[in-house]
Amino acid sequence: MSKVVWKPGTMVYPVPAVMVSCGNEEDGYNIITIAWTGTICTDPAMAYISVRPDRYSYDIIKKNGEFVINLTTKDLAKATDWCGVKSGRDYDKFKEMQLTPVKATQVKAPLIEECPINIECRVTEIKELGTHHMFLAKVIAVNASKEYLDEKSGAFDMNKAGLISYIHGKYYGSTAPLGKFGFSVQKLRRETRSVEQAALRRQSETHEVLKNRTEHEVRDSQHRTRTGEQSSTGTLKRKPRWSAKKKKKKSKK
Ligand SMILES: Cc1cc2nc3c(=O)[nH]c(=O)nc-3n(C[C@H](O)[C@H](O)[C@H](O)COP(=O)(O)O)c2cc1C
Repeated sequence: MSKVVWKPGTMVYPVPAVMVSCGNEEDGYNIITIAWTGTICTDPAMAYISVRPDRYSYDIIKKNGEFVINLTTKDLAKATDWCGVKSGRDYDKFKEMQLTPVKATQVKAPLIEECPINIECRVTEIKELGTHHMFLAKVIAVNASKEYLDEKSGAFDMNKAGLISYIHGKYYGSTAPLGKFGFSVQKLRRETRSVEQAALRRQSETHEVLKNRTEHEVRDSQHRTRTGEQSSTGTLKRKPRWSAKKKKKKSKK
């Protein structure tokens, strides 16, 4: 595969396009759309968002040290984009996009009710990287909409929720899963199993053929003993059925 080499740039895609809600009080709530976000540690659960210092939300998050990452869906794509091109300096984004702020369980920043997953975060560190400052944060609580929980396993059905991703300037709806975690290994195991099973099947078929042949040979030899007939091949010298039928037909004519 031949390649072109580009200058350094942002090419880690797909990423989620999330709506980050912030603000301590109702009249100061705001939403900023963020694509530079992700998980950075499993235990303790930690996530990050990278924000340009000139965003209205930047100072709010820095001052309060809290924010909520709200995952977005196909139905929320328009609101997600809008909150990413308009500023809280000029608009009440909750009101304009008819989104509902709901009290979070652990932080003062609100959850966005319409989003299926709300991740409550508390800032632990700010890394001034360049154009963006990275807010490293501990995940304090995760709120999941019950309607997307599997009744039996309790697992969240990400696909059913219709989560969206962002790839190089475009939003994409979620697609059918290609496989679950570890499927590549499971497939290999299944293949190996089927190869083994096929070998076993072949073995038992061969065994069956040999067994039948032996029984046949025993019968053949018994027959020859009775009749005194000689067989160089060890099998009965019978005429094939089709030739017998042919003869019958001929005699009818
Ligand atoms: C899809 C998308 C992703 C974005 N990702 C980021 C991001 O990761 N960091 C950032 O600082 N701004 C990002 N923005 C831009 C801000 O959301 C935008 O400047 C917004 O108007 C800021 O709102 P605020 O001024 O109310 O804080 C993104 C915008 C869009 C549409």
